Amino acid sequence: MDHAAYRRWRAAKLSGFPAAIEDLRVDVGDPARLTAGEREALIQRIRRANMTVYRCAGATVDRDALRRFGQALGLLRLDEHLCAEEDGISQLRVSEGGRTGEYIPYTDRPLSWHCDGYYNAPEGMIRAMLLHCVSDAVEGGENALMDHEMLYIALRDTDPQYVEALMHPEALTIPANTRDGTVIRPERTGPVFSVDPASGALHMRYTARGRNIRWRDDPITAEAVTLIGHILDAPDSPVFRYRLRPGEGILCNNVLHNRTGFRDDRESGHQRLVYRARFFDRVAET
Ligand SMILES: [Fe+2]
Repeated sequence: MDHAAYRRWRAAKLSGFPAAIEDLRVDVGDPARLTAGEREALIQRIRRANMTVYRCAGATVDRDALRRFGQALGLLRLDEHLCAEEDGISQLRVSEGGRTGEYIPYTDRPLSWHCDGYYNAPEGMIRAMLLHCVSDAVEGGENALMDHEMLYIALRDTDPQYVEALMHPEALTIPANTRDGTVIRPERTGPVFSVDPASGALHMRYTARGRNIRWRDDPITAEAVTLIGHILDAPDSPVFRYRLRPGEGILCNNVLHNRTGFRDDRESGHQRLVYRARFFDRVAET
């Protein structure tokens, strides 16, 4: 994006960006049967901030309803990854042992800043993501969310070299995932920021985890990565924090997000349960 085009895009983005999370909230009667008004309200939030927080009124929301909710919003291709159920929608809850217990999303530990699918191959790029809360934790389990376009602006405004370094095709490497000597997923190298060829939209590939990742060995990249950490932690950054209640969900174009740790009550059987769907499509623009 050249300088003049960037200035125009930036001005439009900043002028439309919501000031508070309340501006991102949309009430939905039944996600399996969106009305035209509800659909428009959701898309309007996504256009401004790449995310929306919806609240379902009473309707029982099962995985099939969420699949139809996505379809109505242009989300047709679900990522059926390692731990997802057969319909491609994962149930995130604390699991005892088994394959899923090894991955932090299936534990009650905090989850650091990331965009989903940063370890995927380019053809598995996650463009949109949905988290739907079925039951909340006794305590904790709050998400923080930041529109990756706002992070891009903060970096480019500080120094355009930072976004250039982060667009380098070798900016970030995730080493192979191996178990018992078998490669489950090969090493992945790619940019942090890229322009999605399918839509022309800005895509971000990022994880704040410090271990087991490799940044390109270059001083500007190192400065840019440090700055990302500072921006995500800064009190004046446009970060929205929200603790989903049962029946509520987050729908987004795979913005940056994290999650605090939480506590279930094992004795009463009160357990946090969140459905997660990841899509290869972006949310429809119209
Ligand atoms: Fe995530």
